[in-house]
Amino acid sequence: MLPTPAFIIEEDKLRKNLELVADVAAATGVEIILALKAFAFWPAFPLMAEYLPGATASSLNEAKLIHKHFDRKPHVYAPAYPPKDFREMAELANHLTFNTLTELERYRPQWEALETNVGLRVNPEYSPVETELYNPSNPHGRLGETLPNLPTRPPKGLKGLHIHTLCESDAAATATLIERTRAQFGHYLEQIEWLNLGGGHLMTREGYDVEGLIKTLKELRARYPHLKVIMEPGSAHVWRTGYLQCTVLDIVNNYGSATLMLDVSFTCHMPDTLEMPYRPMVRGASAEPANGFPYEYRLGGMSCLAGDYLDTYYFRQPARVGDTLVFEDMAHYTTVKSTMFNGVPHPAIVLVDADGEVVAERRFDYADYEARMG
Ligand SMILES: Cc1ncc(COP(=O)(O)O)c(C=O)c1O
Repeated sequence: MLPTPAFIIEEDKLRKNLELVADVAAATGVEIILALKAFAFWPAFPLMAEYLPGATASSLNEAKLIHKHFDRKPHVYAPAYPPKDFREMAELANHLTFNTLTELERYRPQWEALETNVGLRVNPEYSPVETELYNPSNPHGRLGETLPNLPTRPPKGLKGLHIHTLCESDAAATATLIERTRAQFGHYLEQIEWLNLGGGHLMTREGYDVEGLIKTLKELRARYPHLKVIMEPGSAHVWRTGYLQCTVLDIVNNYGSATLMLDVSFTCHMPDTLEMPYRPMVRGASAEPANGFPYEYRLGGMSCLAGDYLDTYYFRQPARVGDTLVFEDMAHYTTVKSTMFNGVPHPAIVLVDADGEVVAERRFDYADYEARMG
């Protein structure tokens, strides 16, 4: 019996996504890796490593996790490197990207001595992402150097460029990103060894123009045959492979508003639903008024935060205490962004195979809460 609440990740769906990603990599010669910031449930790493040549980290913890459980040297990019962590991160990394030229120069003696393969994050000042919280291409922003800051020739020892400005984007956005990158940094591309196109390429979404992406990547490789091209999506690998199941604990009625009190929390376990905000799909319910869905409930979390609820969802039947609710598509970002705010117990994370058998399971208890907070 699966625990509740729990994030359930379905192995067969994960494999299907990974097969598509591996096909794109094989057709184009592009190295496609996993960004841990989107998914870090490491018991699934051996399975993912059957399809992916590696993974990328943005902290020492993630780098160590990749080294230990993905059994590969990680790609590493961090917006800033803490001096106490730098040496270990550089020793672990097979590619290491700096966010600024000043950091690249500050750490030069160390990375030169270690012969680290270093890159620089640049900002091509293009992004299709409209939500400010997820748009890294602001020219006044903090993620990567803009063109006016770069010397005409790459600094000595620089091997690669890294760009990341997409989020849940389509193939046309990848094409535009490459076009803008060439327009701004084409003179660098001739002189370096690798280009990392970042994440946000949601090639596993239904309707994504996979053939269009393959064409764009082939053209890029034909134009710069010397260049190793890397992509590091996170969401694409785990898109629609997992759900969060929970239980109705109580129903609160006030002035005609009924709220289902759930054994999960939006602020602790699904923070994007409040921050972005977005409305997750709830199995068997409608997020909008609809014929045949007459029963209206707000969905309430179990923390003390007043705003820990989602506005009205519509149901076919009246809800009852003890009912199970399923939030769809909760594997990417949600599993890593969830916290233990308020001491609310963390949902278990489970990997099940196509027959519903548990492949790997992690339950959380007080010791985890204590370790996470201390
Ligand atoms: C530098 C970098 N690489 C990769 C990713 C993964 O992006 P996604 O999960 O949208 O594919 C992110 C997401 O924020 C990122 O910041």
